Amino acid sequence: MLKKLILLAAVIALGIMLFPGKTTFSSSQDALAAFRSNSCVDCHSKSNTQLKLTTRYAEWHMSLHRDKGVGCEKCHGGDSTAKEQAKAHVGVLAGSAPNSRLHPKNLPETCGTCHKEIASTFTESKHYQNLKTAGIGPTCSTCHEHMASDVIYTPEQTSKLCASCHDSTNALMPKRPEIPGKADEVMQSIRRANMVVIWADRLVDDAHNKKMDIAEEEKEMKVVRGLRAEAKVSWHAFNLDVVRKKADSAFEEGTKVKDALRKKLYPNQ
Ligand code: HEC
Ligand code: HEC
Ligand code: HEC
Ligand code: HEC
Ligand code: HEC
Repeated sequence: MLKKLILLAAVIALGIMLFPGKTTFSSSQDALAAFRSNSCVDCHSKSNTQLKLTTRYAEWHMSLHRDKGVGCEKCHGGDSTAKEQAKAHVGVLAGSAPNSRLHPKNLPETCGTCHKEIASTFTESKHYQNLKTAGIGPTCSTCHEHMASDVIYTPEQTSKLCASCHDSTNALMPKRPEIPGKADEVMQSIRRANMVVIWADRLVDDAHNKKMDIAEEEKEMKVVRGLRAEAKVSWHAFNLDVVRKKADSAFEEGTKVKDALRKKLYPNQ
């Protein structure tokens, strides 16, 4: 019992470290309610001692994918109704196997079963064509890592990732030295759009609590979210100029809503 509690505390602490301010689970009881009959989750949530497995489980447990009911089998394959390990694991292949659902070349298709628009935007890019043919190029997990609930890179790290191919001394790599700096700025522009949406959302909550009429602002926020979503889709085609334009518009429109809400809520400030 004590051991279990310590493990749970460690899992929660890990989640907070990985996703500060993003711990999503409301109560440890119902966190797994949607997965009662999912054998992957059942077994992996209980019996893991191996470092790698426990870490992977914890990443999933703290992720938006868990929140939305996406079990291990949706990405890994296997049979989530089979209770025995060997039976459940039929079809669960290491990501390095060419026919694995997680192989870098197959990942866009695996993720694309749910993220259609983003995956198809990505597969139209030169990156994907090079990935398919030469095996060079970023794939979904390059930027989203295991649980994909977020992008783990800062703008600076993103620019380093781009530089590793586009500003490399390797003559086989496509040299485009302007790309890394541009990508850094684009990531910053997405980030400030995300921040202003969070700020505005909090003000919307405050206004609801005060029972104020903010129908107009809420309508505007839909537009802002739409622009931001378009920016994120275009990112996956690596159309950096388009992303920048959309993300900046989302930021500018979001700022207008945020300022209007502040004025309504706190007229004396
Ligand atoms: C009854 C327990 C049990 C069930 C059910 C189970 N697993 Fe596992 N799984 C394990 C154990 C234990 C390991 C550690 C590797 C080993 O000892 O074979 C493991 C390893 C893995 C690995 C890592 C493989 C590697 O080589 O690194 C993945 C991925 C995985 N399981 C996914 C799944 C998925 C997906 C399902 C459901 C379709 C599932 N597991 C169901 C117990 C289970
Ligand atoms: C959204 C898709 C997705 C879901 C859901 C998911 N995984 Fe993964 N998993 C991946 C991807 C992609 C990789 C390979 C990328 C990487 O290594 O970072 C991976 C790698 C792993 C590995 C390492 C395997 C190896 O050979 O190195 C383990 C173990 C693992 N996952 C366990 C799980 C378990 C257990 C669950 C459910 C509790 C789960 N995953 C749910 C996408 C997913
Ligand atoms: C079975 C469906 C399913 C699969 C497969 C799946 N996802 Fe998701 N994913 C979701 C859902 C549902 C959400 C919650 C947000 C939403 O509704 O779009 C989500 C959220 C995300 C987010 C975060 C979005 C946000 O707003 O914060 C990212 C990034 C993501 N997925 C990437 C991936 C990647 C990469 C893969 C493949 C390794 C993958 N997903 C596989 C269903 C899936
Ligand atoms: C070069 C890095 C990179 C690659 C490769 C990549 N993504 Fe993304 N992805 C991002 C960035 C950056 C964002 C925006 C993150 C944010 O919200 O701040 C994002 C956002 C997302 C979102 C959330 C969209 C939304 O509207 O909230 C999903 C889903 C997603 N990616 C899926 C995928 C899938 C599926 C693949 C593979 C086909 C993939 N990504 C490949 C960097 C990448
Ligand atoms: C693993 C290597 C690799 C990484 C990492 C990488 N790229 Fe590329 N990129 C390529 C290859 C290969 C091409 C195709 C060159 C060609 O065929 O002209 C390419 C092409 C491009 C193009 C031109 C596309 C077109 O249609 O003309 C852009 C823009 C681009 N990459 C942006 C980025 C950005 C932004 C990043 C970082 C988020 C990045 N790349 C990371 C390998 C990479």
